[in-house]
Amino acid sequence: MGTPIVIAKKTEDTTQDIVLHSQLANRHGLIAGATGTGKTVTLKVLAESFSRIGVPVFLADAKGDVSSLAKAGESNLKLDERMKNLNIQSIPFEASPVMFWDLFGKQGHPIRTTVSEIGPLLLAQMLNLNDTQESVLSAVFRIADDQGLLLIDIKDLKAMLSYVSEHAADFKAEYGNLSPASLGAIQRNLLALADQGGDQFFGEPALDLMDFLQTDSQGHGNINLLAADKLMNTPKLYATFLLWMLSELFEQLPEVGDLDKPKLVFFFDEAHLLFDNASPALKEKIEQVVRLIRSKGVGIYFVTQNPLGLPESVLGQLGNRIQHALRAFTPKDQKAVKAAADTFRANPEFKVDQVITELAVGEALISCLDEKGIPQIVERGWIMPPHSSFNPISLDERQALMKQSIMAGIYEQSVDRESAHEILQNKVAERQQQAQKAELAKQQAREQERLAREQHKEAERATKQRAKLINDTVGTFAKTAARSLGGSTGQKIVRGLLGSLFGRK
Ligand SMILES: Nc1ncnc2c1ncn2[C@@H]1O[C@H](COP(=O)(O)OP(=O)(O)OP(=O)(O)O)[C@@H](O)[C@H]1O
Ligand SMILES: [Mg+2]
Repeated sequence: MGTPIVIAKKTEDTTQDIVLHSQLANRHGLIAGATGTGKTVTLKVLAESFSRIGVPVFLADAKGDVSSLAKAGESNLKLDERMKNLNIQSIPFEASPVMFWDLFGKQGHPIRTTVSEIGPLLLAQMLNLNDTQESVLSAVFRIADDQGLLLIDIKDLKAMLSYVSEHAADFKAEYGNLSPASLGAIQRNLLALADQGGDQFFGEPALDLMDFLQTDSQGHGNINLLAADKLMNTPKLYATFLLWMLSELFEQLPEVGDLDKPKLVFFFDEAHLLFDNASPALKEKIEQVVRLIRSKGVGIYFVTQNPLGLPESVLGQLGNRIQHALRAFTPKDQKAVKAAADTFRANPEFKVDQVITELAVGEALISCLDEKGIPQIVERGWIMPPHSSFNPISLDERQALMKQSIMAGIYEQSVDRESAHEILQNKVAERQQQAQKAELAKQQAREQERLAREQHKEAERATKQRAKLINDTVGTFAKTAARSLGGSTGQKIVRGLLGSLFGRK
């Protein structure tokens, strides 16, 4: 038996509730509507409702306004009037247990993962690679695997890419053509990603996704809030990161039967970013993850201005739908309105496409699955007021909550263990050392040779000098002797003198 979550009051008759059944919350959902129509407030109402029944939530805070979940609401004139209209006596204002996360480590506990966990497909998406470059990147991952080189951070991948570039010819037979142009493009885009903050995101300690599945001491599900304001400037990084989380959750969570309530609910704000320029392979993967993840007890709620930004195959899987107002100024708008209206099970009481354009702020067209899992007839309703505040928390309040958090200190300090970068650096250092040794040996050999040559020359010079000396001495002496002895005797004396002269040496 699940719990009915009251999300709205029927506009026609505010004594009647519109509910979302917790046991069907893993059949995914959609929150759509033009800007300023109440999507974020609806997201908050859903998130805190899930939290209250003990379901942990993950959501991205695109504008910083969802942080208000961490602060209890307060009454004000506007709200009091709305409550009166909705037949609500009072609201138990309270804060939800919020855990702050931030890829950049500033507005929340840092989130990191390793390059190898992201894998070549998602990384290719992050790096904006074409098909050829993507297959080269896959080969680089395979080479790293085969050589036992760990790819943890961007430094590792950079080192790996240079290593593969240097040895592309050796790898060709086994891994195919690793063209310098493709490797160069990957290296360049990697630098850009590092500049966008990727260098902080890739590293260790890597996030343990099970940390997102916690409840607090009261049994309320933690709301894991990702600061995404800065991240939104780099849509690729944002979309790929969330996708990575989904696929990891899918891989790590066990298959579960029908549950009373989901294990985790995941809100995907600005959901169209997921699909903008996504490769067909990636789109297929997203559709597949969305389809299969519900059997792991995870519900995904897409939040977007225009539902047509989502592929039909995904849209068709979203069982619980909340459609806020859409504008119908241009023919393109009108087409979007018509398409959004057509996704609902019609209500004979009103024309859906007309009502979509007339909805007030905080009002929506809603169709959730009934207890049998069948889409209910679309109803027009006022979204319930949130129990949390309408005002975002201050930086000081955020810091205080982060300090108190049970996650404080676990992920703050990054560690850099030995991986591809260090190993390849060592290899290079080793090679350099060997080259230095060889160079030294060569120099020594040259020096010895030079010395030998000099000694030889010296000896020659000495010989010549001696010879000259002898010559001079013998010359004078012999001449005198020969002169005095005359004839052949003179010759003998010369030989004898020469012998004794050399013998003195
Ligand atoms: N259910 C509600 N109850 C009371 N007030 C609401 C409700 N929904 C919206 N509002 C009011 O409308 C304002 C705008 O709503 P919200 O921020 O949810 O719009 P949005 O659709 O998320 O806009 P954007 O696309 O710009 O993010 C809120 O700040 C609040 O004052
Ligand atoms: Mg919003």
